[in-house]
Parts: sequence; C-alpha cells; structure tokens
Amino acid sequence: MPMEDEKRCAVVTGANKGIGYEICRQLAIQGVQVILTALNESQGMEAVKKLNLPNVISHQLDIKDPSSVARLANFIETHFRKLDILINNAAEGGVIILDDKQFRDGGGFLQVVDEKAHLIGNIIKQPYELGEECLKTNYYGTKAITEALLPLLRLSKSPRVVNITSIQGDLYWFHNEKLKEELKDIENLTEERLDEIVQWFLRDLKVGMLKENGWPLTTSAYKVSKAALNAYTRLMARKFPNIMVNCVHPGYVVTDMTFQTGFLTAEEGSKGPVMVALLPHGGPSGVYFDETQQIVPFSSTGLKAE
Ligand SMILES: NC(=O)c1ccc[n+]([C@@H]2O[C@H](COP(=O)([O-])OP(=O)(O)OC[C@H]3O[C@@H](n4cnc5c(N)ncnc54)[C@H](OP(=O)(O)O)[C@@H]3O)[C@@H](O)[C@H]2O)c1
Repeated sequence: MPMEDEKRCAVVTGANKGIGYEICRQLAIQGVQVILTALNESQGMEAVKKLNLPNVISHQLDIKDPSSVARLANFIETHFRKLDILINNAAEGGVIILDDKQFRDGGGFLQVVDEKAHLIGNIIKQPYELGEECLKTNYYGTKAITEALLPLLRLSKSPRVVNITSIQGDLYWFHNEKLKEELKDIENLTEERLDEIVQWFLRDLKVGMLKENGWPLTTSAYKVSKAALNAYTRLMARKFPNIMVNCVHPGYVVTDMTFQTGFLTAEEGSKGPVMVALLPHGGPSGVYFDETQQIVPFSSTGLKAE
C-alpha cells in the first residue's frame, strides 16, 4: 500500500450501507482516499467491491470495541501516517417497530412525537437494552473513535470531524428547562457533566422516570444520544481550535435505520455531510448544518435557528 502524503485521507464509520456508504462514494469521486469501515469485515469488503473505485479500502471497525478502535488507529498510522477527515456516521436507533404497516401508514417517524406517546405504544417500543446500546454507540462509541484518532487528525494540515446528528437531537424535544439550559451553556458545560447527564438519562429510562424528569418520551435514547453528540461537537470545537468539528443532520433519509421510510435517497442525504467535510480551510467549527444549510448561531433550543 502506498504511503500517501498529500492526498486527503478520510475515515467513515458504519459505511457498509446507507448514508455512510454513499458518503464514501461521494468523497472518493472527489479524490479523497477513503477508509470505509464496517462492523462486519466481509460486509465492508463487499461494499468496497460494489463501489469499485480505486481510492476506497475497507477496514473493520466496531466503535464500541476498544480493541477494534485501536486496530483501526494503528492501521491508519502505519499506512497513511495522518488523518484529514473523520466522519462519525455509525449509529443505532434504539427502538423496535412492532407494527410495520401502522408505522408506515401513520407517516413513519413523523408520527413519533411526545404528544402521541400514549397512542403509538403498539407501533414502536424502546426497550431499555436497546436504549443503552444506542447511547453506547451513538455517544460513547463516537467519543471513543474520535479520541483514538485525534493524534492522527492533529497531524493533518486541515483536520475535520463531521458528526452525523439528527433533527431529533434538538433540545425542543426535551421538557426539563434546567437541563436544556445546561446543555446549551457550552461555556460552562464539561465532558464529565455531559457523561453524568447521559448516565442520569439511562437510569431514568431503566426505572421508567422519563416523564418525571422531562426527558423526550418517544425515541428517547436516540434523541438524548444526538443531543449529547451536539453538545460534544461544540465542546470539541472549543477545545481544539485547529480542528473543524461540526455536526450535520442529513435529512429524513430512506435507510434501514428509518425502516425504509423518508423523503431523501441516501445520495441526497449525503450531500450535507460531504459538503461539510470538504469545506475550505478555516471554515466554521462548532456549527450545526441542516442538510447543506448552516444554522448559526445555535438557537434557544440549542440547535436550530428560530
Ligand atoms: N436515515 C435518516 O433519516 C437519518 C436522519 C438523521 C440522522 N441520521 C443519521 O445518519 C447516520 C447513518 O444512518 P443511516 O440512516 O444510514 O442508518 P443505517 O443504514 O442503519 O446505517 C448505520 C450504520 O452504522 C453501523 N453501526 C451500528 N453500530 C455500530 C458500531 N458499534 N460500530 C460501527 N458501526 C456501527 C451499522 O452497521 P451494521 O450494518 O453492521 O448494523 C450501519 O453500517 C446515523 O448517524 C443516523 O443517526 C439518519
């Protein structure tokens, strides 16, 4: 494998399918050397074969597994010496759909709002175990891979981290005003406190205290994971002024995560993440993008402009 010095090198997590796969394709056709990572090694290799582009290779990566994370970091260090772009795309939904037909007929995730929580219990369920895995992947796993690759990112001339978030991470979905203020107050929030908030949520999810403490009532773990990811994005941007760290909501995209519902194809949904990954040097950091649109500043909901 050639040692690449000048070519930009990108890692995309969870890229064997869906938005991650498409991000790899779009980055590769723009000349970026892409490391397509996948939980399942053979699915990653299949995806690379299907892409059939010279500058995409695959590597196994489970962001929840510290040894897998370390193996990827070693691989990049050995073969590329540095990393320019990290796209944190891997995620889990944390729910099961009980009635596929009702879910689709009712408008997919558009009907999954807290006002209807009591009506949709027979359509969508969020068992504690799935919620816990969702936080472990979307928040803790994303942090783990980011921290492991930071030393390599810092060797790039223009490093970028793109965190794929969701409109569901908007603090609009939270009902605890004090907590919302805390999550918005990026000057005083710390990573330790963010971890405590996530642990507090998991305890409440386990004992059925979501309503009492003002957490989102539907797709709760997913919403909390993405809100925590948004806050982490802003903390990182503050801590590492030489790295562009941003988050992007790709839109409502037809993938396995949405049980094949949505408005956009994976190709369309990948445009925002790819655009943010390839922004000119010195561009914005700590910013939220809704598809390709930059939302500045973070609003009173902590996410969207009003
Ligand atoms: N689709 C939407 O409408 C939508 C909207 C807003 C945000 N998003 C975000 O967009 C991103 C991509 O989602 P998608 O819709 O493309 O979903 P998807 O098709 O279900 O893809 C998710 C990917 O994450 C991988 N993954 C899960 N756990 C992992 C782990 N521990 N380590 C490494 N990879 C792991 C999955 O691997 P396996 O295939 O092996 O399970 C899969 O490749 C996610 O961050 C999602 O939250 C999607």
